[in-house]
Amino acid sequence: MKSDIRIEKAVESDLEAISSIHEAAFEEEDVAGLTRDLLDDESAQPRISLLAVQDQQPIGHILFTRAQIGGDKDLTASILAPLGVIPEHQKKGIGGLLIRKGLQLLSESAVDLVFVLGHIEYYPRFGFIPAAKQGLIAPYPIPEEVADAWMVQELRPGVLGKCQGKIICARAMDKPEHWQE
Ligand SMILES: CC(C)(COP(=O)(O)OP(=O)(O)OC[C@H]1O[C@@H](n2cnc3c(N)ncnc32)[C@H](O)[C@@H]1OP(=O)(O)O)[C@@H](O)C(=O)NCCC(=O)NCCS
Repeated sequence: MKSDIRIEKAVESDLEAISSIHEAAFEEEDVAGLTRDLLDDESAQPRISLLAVQDQQPIGHILFTRAQIGGDKDLTASILAPLGVIPEHQKKGIGGLLIRKGLQLLSESAVDLVFVLGHIEYYPRFGFIPAAKQGLIAPYPIPEEVADAWMVQELRPGVLGKCQGKIICARAMDKPEHWQE
């Protein structure tokens, strides 16, 4: 049941639980390693790191880290990555709870745009749309056949269409291997 799941801000002592979640959720990729690097990366600040907790057990985690749009210093942006829910708890709406709470907190902290490179069938239900068509280019080239997996959502109405450029991500994420969909 979704009703007994709480979404909490992660704290430093949650690092092991966060790693375990991503090790279970992403079988082959070292997403746990990337997450630890992002949590230790000053250039990823401000960050939002949230855990889904059921019966005191952390079962899902989402991270949002700082992004910049080209040389535009007036806009604030964030990248959603990673999101993981441990396999036995998937398809119960927990990923959705984490995304919605994260978007709410980003809005409250006046972030203008949020990006994600992810499943094309999943993220549009939370308001994401293809980003390259808006002139917002991923830090590394995304293959043509999955170009729409690079998505954006405006949290401040009217921002989309008024800004264009290449997105700059946190240093820990700024490697081509983290940009394969
Ligand atoms: C993707 C993920 C975070 C979704 O979390 P969740 O708690 O299961 O998601 P929700 O319950 O909110 O939503 C379930 C929906 O996600 C869809 N979904 C899950 N994995 C998907 C995938 N690889 N591609 C497309 N849709 C996917 C399910 O089909 C389901 O759709 P439905 O509601 O139409 O049945 C979770 O499946 C996961 O951790 N997967 C492994 C890691 C991963 O791929 N992370 C995302 C990287 S972009």
